[in-house]
Amino acid sequence: MTKRPYVIDEMISAKAIAARIEELCHEIHAEFRGTDKLVVVGLLRGSFVFIADLVRELDLPVEVDFLEASSYGDAMESSREVRILKDLRGQIEGRDVLVVEDIVDTGHTLKHVVGLLKARKPGRLRTIALLDKPSRRETDVKADWIGFSIPDEFVVGYGIDYAQRNRNLPFIGKVRFEDES
Ligand code: IMP
Repeated sequence: MTKRPYVIDEMISAKAIAARIEELCHEIHAEFRGTDKLVVVGLLRGSFVFIADLVRELDLPVEVDFLEASSYGDAMESSREVRILKDLRGQIEGRDVLVVEDIVDTGHTLKHVVGLLKARKPGRLRTIALLDKPSRRETDVKADWIGFSIPDEFVVGYGIDYAQRNRNLPFIGKVRFEDES
């Protein structure tokens, strides 16, 4: 847990997030129209707010499941070695799946999860990330839908934490350490 004081500068407003989710849901709806078996898989914990807003905007029959992969722990750097801490409750063989990630940073988490789920022989498997930091990528993974592409900044809010704090902010904010500004 950090003791360094920091402030949070708003980067993406709650209104902008809601508008973008509406747009994304039109595209997702077009992709999965007619499906009666979409499983929306949220990657814990950072995607819990995003997935809640996303499924309420999606006019499709959905099931919701969760998977937890280890990522940053309480630090600001990716561990790169991805472990599954909590697996899905349901089976996905033959089922359409939408994986919901908060941020694609190095890409190791999404790549690992997609590999794992593909091995279970789903129907269509698509991915969506609220945020993308392309300049940080260390893998060839790319989400099918992206909410916002952002620069290499550490962000919090809308489900995303810094050392387990600030998940409950309604907007995405950039962390700025006071001893750095
Ligand atoms: P990746 O495996 O490096 O792509 O890391 C993905 C995970 O790292 C995300 O799901 C987040 O949990 C975490 N992460 C990446 N960037 C940030 C950030 O700016 N703030 C908080 N968590 C982040």
